[in-house]
Amino acid sequence: MDYSILVNKDNKIKNNYYKDLKLVNTKDIENADIQVEEKAFEAYLKLKEFLKDKNIEIAIASSYRSIETQESIYQDFIVRYGQDYADSYVATPGYSEHHTGLAIDISLKINGEFIDDNDLLMENTKTFEEIHKYIKDFGFILRYPEGKEDITGYPYEPWHLRYVGIFISNIISDNNLTLEEYKNNYSGVIVVNKEKGYTSFDIVNKISKLFGIKKVGHTGTLDPLAEGVLLVCIGQATKIVELLTAKDKEYIAGVKLGIETDTYDSVGEIIKKTQVPNHIDLKQVLNSYKKTYLQEVPIYSAVKVNGKKLYDYAREGKKVELPKKEVTIKDIELLKNENDTFTFKTLVTKGCYIRSLINDIGHDIGCGAIMTSLVRTKQGKVGINESYKISDIENNNYKLYKIEEVLEYPKVIVDDNLEFKIKNGMKIFNNWKIKDKVLFFNEKDKLLGIYERDNQKLRVWKNFS
Ligand code: DAL
Ligand code: ZN
Repeated sequence: MDYSILVNKDNKIKNNYYKDLKLVNTKDIENADIQVEEKAFEAYLKLKEFLKDKNIEIAIASSYRSIETQESIYQDFIVRYGQDYADSYVATPGYSEHHTGLAIDISLKINGEFIDDNDLLMENTKTFEEIHKYIKDFGFILRYPEGKEDITGYPYEPWHLRYVGIFISNIISDNNLTLEEYKNNYSGVIVVNKEKGYTSFDIVNKISKLFGIKKVGHTGTLDPLAEGVLLVCIGQATKIVELLTAKDKEYIAGVKLGIETDTYDSVGEIIKKTQVPNHIDLKQVLNSYKKTYLQEVPIYSAVKVNGKKLYDYAREGKKVELPKKEVTIKDIELLKNENDTFTFKTLVTKGCYIRSLINDIGHDIGCGAIMTSLVRTKQGKVGINESYKISDIENNNYKLYKIEEVLEYPKVIVDDNLEFKIKNGMKIFNNWKIKDKVLFFNEKDKLLGIYERDNQKLRVWKNFS
């Protein structure tokens, strides 16, 4: 069930929405039968209880509407309030978010009676404002706020609440957004602390579902066995996935000597066991890897050869020449050494497989070695201490980094003239002697685009406008 579904003048309700919708029956202020989406109704009842203690009594004036109901409401509004009012307040059938069952128009009890007149309700905006203070804690947002008419397409409706769930209602409320702004523009980078057992793709799916945002991507895969820093880009920030993937990464890895597996780690099938030699100078072995070398990509990886993933070759038992990629081990340090196991910390460049590094080390020593644990402790500037577990994020405890906070390129604020050129993706002169890439902002601090050097000029790399 998509609780953050956007239905507005540009987005018609889709038929497939109804396959997951569960409506429950209740009564409106006139004791007529009405329906509300199950969870929205549950949240509404809690809100109603809560408001009672504040001496505010609410009831439902309207919630789920069929296409026919929306049409009859429009006709009714013409009679009651006039054509202009009906045209501006009532959505065209098919384009009302009342079709979702997640919208609830609330009525207030004034002098012992629930009001069913918009003009009278408008006279009680103070009471509504009091209600609006609490709704986010129950998963509701004020869908048509004052001052955002040009974005929502509707005048201020203090009575129209929309259930989106507590996670999203908090974001929308805390950032003073409309659902349109949230769904279309919410973006940034979250430093996830991936726990063992999940694929990187599982994390992307979880984040995408939680935020109700389709565009989500991770930067640099962590296998299920691995844990730690996984940068996840949301919305427009997915445009910089490749830049973040290219960052240096720091890991702490656990190793077991004297064993070899097909996957180079402890989840694979054992291929060989060898007696571990006595007196290995581990520090010296590790130090010899502080270099740039051609590393063979492990067969159990998603790297493609002739359009086919390497692990598919492995599963089918087919022979394939493993590609080699240049990697640099910038730093490597032994942390702990006990019996036939050891732990080390390393800083490596893009594309380095720690499993392969361990496999190479094992061959050097002569007894083979496998990776038993892996924690990514850093990627680019961000470290594990700044990361959040999925359970933290679910509780709205996370930091959303702006694109400019995770990239180290120079930042330049441009005038209207250059803003126009950047928005249109035109080349501009490199007046700032940019060597690689630059982030352009307008005077309102909005990121317009990332440009890159092109001889004497700069050309668009990614457009954000
Ligand atoms: N009054 C809202 C916009 C609707 O008709 O859905
Ligand atoms: Zn409404």
